[in-house]
Amino acid sequence: MTRILARGPGRVNLIGEHTDYNDGLALPFAIERGVTVTAEPLPGNRIEARAADLGEDDAFAIGEEAPAEGWRAFVRGTVAELRSAGHDVRPCRLTIEGDLAHGSGLSSSAALEAALCLALVEDPDTDRVELAKLCSRVENDHVGARTGLLDQLAVLCSADGHALRIDFRDLSMKAVPLELGDWTLVTLDSGAAHEHASGGYNARRDECAAACEALGIASLRDAASPDGLPSPLDRRVRHVLSENARVDATAEALAAGDLEEVGRLLDASHASLRDDYEASVPEVERAVAALKDGGAAGARMVGGGFGGSVLGLLPPDGTAPAGATRVAPGPPARRL
Ligand code: GLA
Repeated sequence: MTRILARGPGRVNLIGEHTDYNDGLALPFAIERGVTVTAEPLPGNRIEARAADLGEDDAFAIGEEAPAEGWRAFVRGTVAELRSAGHDVRPCRLTIEGDLAHGSGLSSSAALEAALCLALVEDPDTDRVELAKLCSRVENDHVGARTGLLDQLAVLCSADGHALRIDFRDLSMKAVPLELGDWTLVTLDSGAAHEHASGGYNARRDECAAACEALGIASLRDAASPDGLPSPLDRRVRHVLSENARVDATAEALAAGDLEEVGRLLDASHASLRDDYEASVPEVERAVAALKDGGAAGARMVGGGFGGSVLGLLPPDGTAPAGATRVAPGPPARRL
């Protein structure tokens, strides 16, 4: 093994929120900002890891990945999951660096998982859907966040310059050109850090499961309508069904070059997440208002909600508010 550098990008979900764990549709893209992991061979049987941005270290023997907290859980979990999937993990020193703030809702977690996998796996051509599932197990079973597959598929399977339409029922994926001309997409951090392992995310998942049980269906993809469900389950289901429809409407609007319509769909997604899914917080509303005040054609929370970042679509004469960062579809996770 020689020195290997691997990059995992963050992601922005253009539209299709809280649909992944409901066998629904989403349209994310990988962004330029992300996490880089460098792996340098070491003698012996240990992994030594350094989170350069935090100035923290970890070390453990391969095969003895005891549970840990924070970034260490990602490293140990990735090594453990690669080994249990039959990959030979070699002793090395891992250095982790990034330009994606943790808790900003742009999937620093999936960026780290994907960069670790591509730095550690022997065959960089390992099937990416399998790697995404492996990364998801790291997150679910080692980090303790009950997230779906959206972030990992976005980070590992996107194409440069494109959004990725994902159908979570069968994991079929299609690259959708994201051509914005002189329009721009920006993200604005709401300042409220979202946290998956706690907060409302798990509560919403439980409500979706309860709605499925009440409707006698396996997933909300099979729900015909929210009618007859008790409140708030009816509103949760209405969000999921309307959001799935907005994903395909957005893909159609993009294909037609109708960015005004994309903006309207982003606004409708946000309203649905705020009113039906009740996943907003005051800081997120302020960030949406700042983007709309700057002339955004549409603005919506991205990711798990309850904080994190807001996405805005600005026409050529729009003004990005202070603190906003331009985002564009970049390449997926890769070795450098
Ligand atoms: C987080 C999770 C994803 C997805 C989104 C909501 O980003 O990691 O799996 O559920 O929230 O769309």
